[in-house]
Amino acid sequence: MRLGPAAILNQNPIFEIASKAQKTRLMNPSEKFTLAHLTDPHLADHHDIRFADLLNKRFFGYIKWRLKHNAAQHRAVLGSLLEDLRANQPDHIVVTGDLTHLGLPAEFQKAKEFLCALGAPSAVTVIPGNHDAYVAAALEDGLSHWVEYVASDQHQHTGGQSFSSSALFPSLRIRGSVALIGVSTARPCSTFLAVGRIGKEQQQRLQKMLIETGRKGLFRVILIHHPPVNGVVSWRKRLTDAEAFRAIVQQHGAELILHGHAHRLAQTQLKTPAGFAPVIGISSASAGDRHSKRRARYHVYHLSQTAHGWQVHVCVRSLGRRKEFITQDEFRLL
Ligand SMILES: [Fe+2]
Repeated sequence: MRLGPAAILNQNPIFEIASKAQKTRLMNPSEKFTLAHLTDPHLADHHDIRFADLLNKRFFGYIKWRLKHNAAQHRAVLGSLLEDLRANQPDHIVVTGDLTHLGLPAEFQKAKEFLCALGAPSAVTVIPGNHDAYVAAALEDGLSHWVEYVASDQHQHTGGQSFSSSALFPSLRIRGSVALIGVSTARPCSTFLAVGRIGKEQQQRLQKMLIETGRKGLFRVILIHHPPVNGVVSWRKRLTDAEAFRAIVQQHGAELILHGHAHRLAQTQLKTPAGFAPVIGISSASAGDRHSKRRARYHVYHLSQTAHGWQVHVCVRSLGRRKEFITQDEFRLL
């Protein structure tokens, strides 16, 4: 039996489909904070690609792109996505990695233009993915284009320099009662792997950050490219220190974890001291796929604080048949 999206969501105890009455309430403008999540746009620019650029792992990524992607469709989907986001005006947008496809300088520039179209750096938070670190030095060079969209609130930066990604992460941005914590798992790896790693130093800083933001009673949203839960992606694409990440969340908690990388809808959960944190991954923002779980989508999280704690309603905007984004589902996180 093939399950519809509503049935799939209901299989998980922490997700609940909104009833008709709740859907009406979702439209209430009294919501406190709206957070849009999109991921993996894979912006490509191969017009000026040189033979020398392909004498490494990029060769296989380039071939795959030529075989699998339709550039015009890709552009049309992203155009439609930008239009829809503009119409919905979320308070903040997060992008969980793979903004580029081959980590080329031209793609980092294109991704910067995409980010500018999404909004001001103060309203858009970005973390990198494995494609942004496709070859050694790509990420360090590329981050100079996006640093304003990546860095923590307190970060001081000057233009035109290269950045050490290890110094930038985890990033912390606080918007009202919401803490956006960006973890980088992006690092170069061998040709046929797409693994990620957080690393010991970042893990230690993450622990501290979760403790401090938890003490302040903030709603902690962790952004991470690789899914930290087993079984969502294959061994070849795994997060190598996922177990350490899970132990940190189990000990110090988080309210919501958003990821990319899988290029499909994935809803799981992780143990926390308070119970469970939802872990949600979505399909690529530029995918014109026929399968509903892989077709382009973004989620809008409506966060509100009540006397009983946080309430989270999710609106799923996905690419419809007419190539416009439509509300595919609405549900709430318990
Ligand atoms: Fe990706």
